[in-house]
Amino acid sequence: MSEYVTLTHQGREFRLPLVTGTEGEKAIDISRLRQDTGLITLDPGFANTGSCRSAITFVDGEKGILRYRGIPVEQLAEHSTFKETAYLLINGALPSQKELTRFSVMLNDHSLVHEDMKIFYQSFPRSSHPMGILSAMVNALRSFYPELQNLEEEINITVTRLLSKVRTMAAMSYKISRGHTVVYPRSDLTYCANFLNMMFDSPVKPYELDPDVVKALNVFLILHADHEQNCSTAAVRVVGSARVNLYAAISAGIAALWGPLHGGANQAVIEMLSDIQRRGDLPAMVARAKDRKDPYRLMGFGHRVYKTYDPRARIMKQMAHLLLEKLKLSDPLLDIARELEEIALQDDYFVEHHLYPNVDFYSGIVLRAIGIPTNMFTVLFAIGRLPGWIAQWKESMDDPAWKLCRPRQVYSGPGEHDYVPIEER
Ligand code: ACO
Repeated sequence: MSEYVTLTHQGREFRLPLVTGTEGEKAIDISRLRQDTGLITLDPGFANTGSCRSAITFVDGEKGILRYRGIPVEQLAEHSTFKETAYLLINGALPSQKELTRFSVMLNDHSLVHEDMKIFYQSFPRSSHPMGILSAMVNALRSFYPELQNLEEEINITVTRLLSKVRTMAAMSYKISRGHTVVYPRSDLTYCANFLNMMFDSPVKPYELDPDVVKALNVFLILHADHEQNCSTAAVRVVGSARVNLYAAISAGIAALWGPLHGGANQAVIEMLSDIQRRGDLPAMVARAKDRKDPYRLMGFGHRVYKTYDPRARIMKQMAHLLLEKLKLSDPLLDIARELEEIALQDDYFVEHHLYPNVDFYSGIVLRAIGIPTNMFTVLFAIGRLPGWIAQWKESMDDPAWKLCRPRQVYSGPGEHDYVPIEER
């Protein structure tokens, strides 16, 4: 039976249909609101606005649940690989052995980057942030790999190209930024092992692959693979709605992810923890974060959707411990992070505001243990989020209800007044 909510405005009643998702969540369908009533809704930051129906990822922020295509992220982190999870997100179901092998072959076939792109890398100033470079280079891919005639083939090849080349391009930018020889992808290595080898192998010191490190990278990437309509995914969908090519839409997603309130938080957390270590005054930083007059925030804390512990943060914290133990490393920043979490979780301010560690709080510790430099952290997040962006873009392209994204506004500027010639102003 159809359900409705009733809106009363100037003595007239309007029935707005209620939409129910598979997990019972309800939404008011306002798609005819302006047409029927002349009204629009106002929702800064879209905190109450659903922009689409999606069958990819389910998040319950109150219960701390995250599932990709119905499968709990905890199970994927334990049993799956990033490559398999990427397939799941993009194609809607786990692959058979044959499908997975075919996917691996395609990823290998597309792993090389056009040699001319190396020249671009060399032209960026050495101090450039790798996220700015990655966003520009992904957009530039369209010039190197023009559109194919057949749409189906075009989408499949573009998707594989992106998944494979972004990993090569990320490692390449790191090598070039250090003035080192670029290491090429190898077809005998798995997705994550290949990336690590391209990052850390060198002609003078061959890189020894450690299965624990490869597993940790797989888990890191799986945990970042999708998160429904977050800021960067919304950017991919909004830009994609103008029917730009996939490279341009993903490039917009990378730019959005760079922000410290979003993916850039993983870098900001390590900088914050290092700052606390230098100052040696943790309580003062907590006090600053609580002071309404001070814009300072605890990075890696809080989330628009999670009002309880982020399930990804729980796995990441466990992995940080395990990895440091296995690699026989000690990281003073992990001790500071644990102490900070303990203080915050008992503090009234953080409890009342439902502020818990998010995925970025412990992820930097894991990446440091793997050997990833701090300014590359958000690039690793981008590699992880890529299958999610692609899946969401693909879903939006196939959605019969999809329209050009074009929000409205409530104008608050001056009323009409006449132009004043410059000599009279
Ligand atoms: N430290 C201190 N106070 C905080 C924090 C924080 N990290 N986060 C939120 N608050 C407070 C705000 O000051 C505000 O307090 P008030 O109501 O008393 O004024 C209240 O909590 C609500 O904050 P909003 O900014 O309105 O919440 P929103 O849902 O818009 O913000 C966000 C979510 C941006 C993630 C925020 O929690 C934040 O800035 N966190 C730090 C940055 C971070 O870790 N980002 C990564 C998010 S995960 C991801 O994108 C992968």
